[in-house]
Amino acid sequence: MKSPLTLNNQLTLNNGVSMPAVGYGVFQSAPEETAASVETALKTGYRHIDTAAGYGNEREVGEGIRRSGIDLDDVFLETKVWVSDYGYDETLHAFEKSATKLGVSQIDLLILHQPMPQHFERTLAAYRALEQLLADGSVRSIGVSNFMPHHLAALREQTQIVPAVNQVELHPYFTQPAVQRANAELGTVTQAWSPIGGITFYPGWGENRESVLEDQTIGRIAAEHGKTPAQIMLRWHLQQGRSVIPKSTNAQRMAKNIDVFDFALGDEDLYAIDYLDRGVRGGPDPDDVDPSTWDLEIPEP
Ligand code: A2P
Repeated sequence: MKSPLTLNNQLTLNNGVSMPAVGYGVFQSAPEETAASVETALKTGYRHIDTAAGYGNEREVGEGIRRSGIDLDDVFLETKVWVSDYGYDETLHAFEKSATKLGVSQIDLLILHQPMPQHFERTLAAYRALEQLLADGSVRSIGVSNFMPHHLAALREQTQIVPAVNQVELHPYFTQPAVQRANAELGTVTQAWSPIGGITFYPGWGENRESVLEDQTIGRIAAEHGKTPAQIMLRWHLQQGRSVIPKSTNAQRMAKNIDVFDFALGDEDLYAIDYLDRGVRGGPDPDDVDPSTWDLEIPEP
C-alpha cells in the first residue's frame, strides 16, 4: 500500500515502464462522441487512454489525441485484442489493425481482453504474439484482462513474460481479493474497470442492482472529506496501488475524477470501503466467455 502522502499519478509497471495510474476509459463511448471526449479528457489533464478493439472506437481515440494537440509521446495508450483475433498470427495482425486505427506505430500497453477458457490454446498463442510484439518494440508492455487466478497460473506455466497489468471488474461491491492477491504475487498491476461501479447501474446489465455511487458508507466518507462518492472510490483504489479507468463523457465529472491527489483516506475509511464487498460480479463470468458470447468481428482498418 502506498503512503497517501507520496501518492501521485504514476505507477511503475514490472518492466520499468511508467503508466499514469488514472486513465480515461472509453467503454460504451459511442464513436461519434469519443473523439470529442478524448480531446476534452486530455485537455483536462488525463495522460492515459484505455480503449479496446472490441469497443469499435479506436479510430476516434486516435482522432481525439490528434485534435488535442498533445504530443503522442506524452499519452499512454492502452488497447485490447478481441477474442475473435486470438491465435498467434491473428493477434500479430490485430496489433496492425489497432495501431493503424489509432494512428500510431507503437502501443504503450496491449492486453488480451478476456481469457477464452474453452479455447485456452488460442489464448496462449495470442499471448505469445504479445510477447513477440514486446520483443520487437511494437508495444512497450503487455498484459491481460478478466483473468482469474487459475487463468493467470495457467498462463504463467506456459508463457514467458509476466503480465504488466490485469484489468478486472473492481469496485467497492466487487473487490476480487483472490485476483488482487494473485496479481500482487506476480508483480502485476491490478487495473480496475468500472472503478466507480458503472456496471452496478448501466442499463441492460441485470435487474435490481444497487448503484455503488449511492452507497451510504461512501456517501458519509465523501461528506466528511468534502469530496464526491466517485472521488472517494477512486482514491480508495489508488491508495491500494491499483490503476483506474473511470469513464465519463461529462467534462465536469471527468475533471473531478482525476482531481484525487489533494486528500487522503485514513485506514478506517479504506477498511470501511473494503467491507462493502458483496462478492457479486456485475459483468460476465470470465469462465463463461467464448467467441459466441458476443458476435463480434474486428474489421480491417
Ligand atoms: P457520464 O459519462 O454521464 O459521466 P465506470 O467507469 O465505473 O464504469 O462508471 C461510468 C459511469 O459513471 C458512466 O455512466 C458515467 O456517466 C458515470 N460517472 C462518471 N463519473 C462520475 C462521477 N464523478 N459521478 C457520478 N457519475 C459518474
